[in-house]
Amino acid sequence: MTETAERWTPTHGEPYRPVPYRPARTPADESLARAAELRARMGLRRTVRQFAPDPVPLDVVRDAIACAATAPSGAHQQPWTFVLVQDPEIRRAIREAAEHEERVSYDGRLGEEWLEALRPLGTDEIKPHLTDAPALIVVFQQRYWLGDDGTKHKHYYVDESVGIAVGMLLTALHLSGMAALVHTPSPMRFLREVLDRPENEKAFAVIPVGHPAPDCQVPDLVRKSLDQVLVEI
Ligand SMILES: Cc1cc2nc3c(=O)[nH]c(=O)nc-3n(C[C@H](O)[C@H](O)[C@H](O)COP(=O)(O)O)c2cc1C
Repeated sequence: MTETAERWTPTHGEPYRPVPYRPARTPADESLARAAELRARMGLRRTVRQFAPDPVPLDVVRDAIACAATAPSGAHQQPWTFVLVQDPEIRRAIREAAEHEERVSYDGRLGEEWLEALRPLGTDEIKPHLTDAPALIVVFQQRYWLGDDGTKHKHYYVDESVGIAVGMLLTALHLSGMAALVHTPSPMRFLREVLDRPENEKAFAVIPVGHPAPDCQVPDLVRKSLDQVLVEI
């Protein structure tokens, strides 16, 4: 499979066209070494909420987005759009709208149980990362695609596909040395308006990207151990 230089068109209704796939097999000892290294490196990933304003190499971010766009997707419909925002005015507009929604959420919309779940994270309605981080990746789900005649065609497994792509994005950013945060102000309708996105797109998350501030702190969280998350049969 290659990246297309021109506009990608849906493969909807096209015939099956198999091509050979023969990747070189990785020897077991090398697989083990790579897996152990990856596990250790991924274990160091943390969600960062306090960013340094320093710029980041945008090609790193673009490459991470390109990695995310290799994700598997339901019926290979690739139902995602990544909007990379650097413009300080737009970031300010996003922050203003997000803080408005978050204020309503923290003032009661979330409910006591949700607020209890958030307490250990130390979050509140103030979201400086939206203006401090040098770049924001706003991820949109494409709920459907429009045919040339304007017909709406459903996308399948959109939540799952975009979730997997975002997981790959976070992995790529972390392994490239970038810090990130998945921010989901709710509701997120304002993002489509602020970023002038089409009607078939629904915001999925805002992902600030950058370097941690020198005085960055993160909550002291414990991850489940492998035996708590793995069932072998
Ligand atoms: C779907 C999703 C939504 C999230 N939304 C928010 C959010 O709105 N604000 C926030 O500060 N963190 C958010 N987070 C980050 C989580 O709080 C964080 O991943 C979790 O506390 C574990 O911390 P770690 O990423 O450092 O391991 C979100 C994470 C996910 C996966």
